[in-house]
Amino acid sequence: MTDPMTDDHFSKHHDDFATMTRDDISKIHDDIATMQGGSATTQAGVDMIQTAFAQRIGGLRFGLNTPVYKFERIKQAKRHAVQVNPDMALIDLGVGEPDAMADDAVVRVLQDEATKPENRFYADNGILEFKRAAATYMRDVFGVVDLDPETEIIPVVGSKSALAMLPAAFIDPDDVVLMPSPGYPVLATSGAYYGGRVVSLPLHEEHAFLPDFTALSPDDLQQAKLLYLNYPNNPTGAMASAEFFEQVVDFARQHSTVVVHDAAYAALVFDGVKPLSFLAAPGAKDVGVELHSLSKSFNMTGWRIGFMAGNAQIIKAFAAVKDNSDSGQFIPIQKAAAHALAHPEITRQTAQKYARRHALLCRVLALSGFRVQPPGASFFLYTRIPRRVRGGVTFASAADFSDYLIREHLISTVPWDEVGPYVRFSVTYEAATLQDEERVMQAVRDRLERVTFEF
Ligand SMILES: Cc1ncc(COP(=O)(O)O)c(C=O)c1O
Repeated sequence: MTDPMTDDHFSKHHDDFATMTRDDISKIHDDIATMQGGSATTQAGVDMIQTAFAQRIGGLRFGLNTPVYKFERIKQAKRHAVQVNPDMALIDLGVGEPDAMADDAVVRVLQDEATKPENRFYADNGILEFKRAAATYMRDVFGVVDLDPETEIIPVVGSKSALAMLPAAFIDPDDVVLMPSPGYPVLATSGAYYGGRVVSLPLHEEHAFLPDFTALSPDDLQQAKLLYLNYPNNPTGAMASAEFFEQVVDFARQHSTVVVHDAAYAALVFDGVKPLSFLAAPGAKDVGVELHSLSKSFNMTGWRIGFMAGNAQIIKAFAAVKDNSDSGQFIPIQKAAAHALAHPEITRQTAQKYARRHALLCRVLALSGFRVQPPGASFFLYTRIPRRVRGGVTFASAADFSDYLIREHLISTVPWDEVGPYVRFSVTYEAATLQDEERVMQAVRDRLERVTFEF
C-alpha cells in the first residue's frame, strides 16, 4: 500500500514528451520492457497505454522508477532475512490483521444462507436485517440509541472502499481534506484523486496523539470540507475521549466541515472500558458519520463487511455514489454479519486476548529499555525507536530500525517516520495457546537481549 503522506502521487507529474529528451524516452521504453519481462508489446502500443495514464496516478511515469514503499520494503526484507537464516523462525509483529478465524457460529450462518436461492441476487445498498442489526449493535455496545436503520445506516463492502468513495460526494478541486498523520491514508488518497488538497494534522505524542486544530491556517480552515479521524487509532493505539469528540463537533460546526470517524477498532477496548462512539457526542449526527467494520472486531477481514452510521444526508449522498460503484455485499455475508453484531461478546473475548498479549509484549520490550505502556484498545503498540545499539549501529529513522530488527533478529514491525521515529508492534502474531504466546515472547526476549539499545 502506498502512503500518500510521503507519496509521489501528491507531487505533480508534469513530464511529457515535449519536455523530455530522447534519452529520457528511451530509458522509459527500457523500463517498460523490463517491467513487462521483455514481452513483445510494440513500441507504439507501449507508448499509447503509458501516455494514457491519468496524472493522479503518476501519468507518464506510472509504474516506472517507482520508489519502494514501506510495506513492500518490509516484505522484501522479510524474504531476504528468511533466506539468509533458514534455521531461525521469523516472528511477525507487523501484521495488521487478526490471527484468528471468524466465530464458528458466524461461519455456519454464511454456510446455511449461501444455499438459499433467494439470497443470490445483487444486494445493492443493503438488506434491512443487517441495518437493523447494526442499529441494535450501536445501541447495545456504544449507547447510541437514536439511529434510524433505514436512513442513518448503510452497509459497506469494508470501510476501506467507503473511505475511497466518500470524497466523490464532497470533494471538488481545491477543497481541503484534513488528514491526521500518521494515519490510514485512503480517504486522503481518494480526496486527492478528486482534486482535493490534503492538509496533514500531525499527531504528537505530547498531545496524546490527538490533532491540534489550532495549528491550522485560516485558509485551510476556510476550505476544510472533510475531516478524517480514527480512534482507537492506527498506528498509535491512542484513544479519544468524549470531551475530544465534543470539541470535534464544535470544530465541524464552526468551519462547516464534514466529519468522518473511522471506528475500525472502536469495540476492541480493554479492562472493562466502555467502547466510545463519535456519534455519542451531542450534535455529532448533525456533522458527520462513523464507519464500523467487522474486519477487526469480529476477525472478518476477508469478508468485506461493515457499515456507515450517522447523518442521513451524508448517507444519502454516499449511497448515490456507492450505487454507481458496487452492487452491495453478498446477502449471506450480510446475514452472517448481522448474527455477529448480535453477539458483541465475540469481540470482548478477542479483546481479552489482545490485552493479555499486550501485557506480555510490554514486559519483554521494557526489559530492552523501550518506553512502553499497554494501549487501552486495538492490537497496536506504538513506541519510539532506540537511537542506537551500544557499540553498534545508529538508527537514522524508524525504517532503518525496522530493517535492522528484521535483518538481525528476524522480528518484523512496521516503521512510521511521519512525526518522529516510531515502530508499530502488533499482537496479532500466530499463537494457538497461552503457552505458544509465552514461547513467542520468550523468543523475542532471547533475540533482543543479545544487544543493548540506547534511547
Ligand atoms: C484505521 C483503519 N481503517 C480502515 C481499515 C480497513 O478496514 P476494512 O477491512 O473494513 O476495509 C483499516 C485496516 O487496516 C484500518 O486500520
